[in-house]
Amino acid sequence: MQHEGRAITTIEGLAENGEPHPLQTAFVEHDGYQCGYCTPGQICSAIGMVEEFRDGLPSAVTPDVAAHDLDFSDEEIKERMSGNLCRCGAYVGIHEAVRAAFADEVAR
Ligand code: FES
Repeated sequence: MQHEGRAITTIEGLAENGEPHPLQTAFVEHDGYQCGYCTPGQICSAIGMVEEFRDGLPSAVTPDVAAHDLDFSDEEIKERMSGNLCRCGAYVGIHEAVRAAFADEVAR
């Protein structure tokens, strides 16, 4: 109900022209999954997380919540992705995939 009338993109909607989203490719390249159960949620959450980051929205670890020039730090990625659990413990690969896919876009 909170998103009535708004567009919702699922994992199936990320590919364009048959090409996977860069984050999907990064998950493969950086071993961002094991069983894959959590992977759709991890990827969709990461894309949403980066959109919030680009919009300058602070997280619980943002040093200066009034700043709009945020640092795409490891701490920011971990905090912003902390709501997604991975029973396989593939967090290192997930983190590396997120950084690899978005570092050029959001790094300053
Ligand atoms: S890859 Fe198995 S739960 Fe995350």
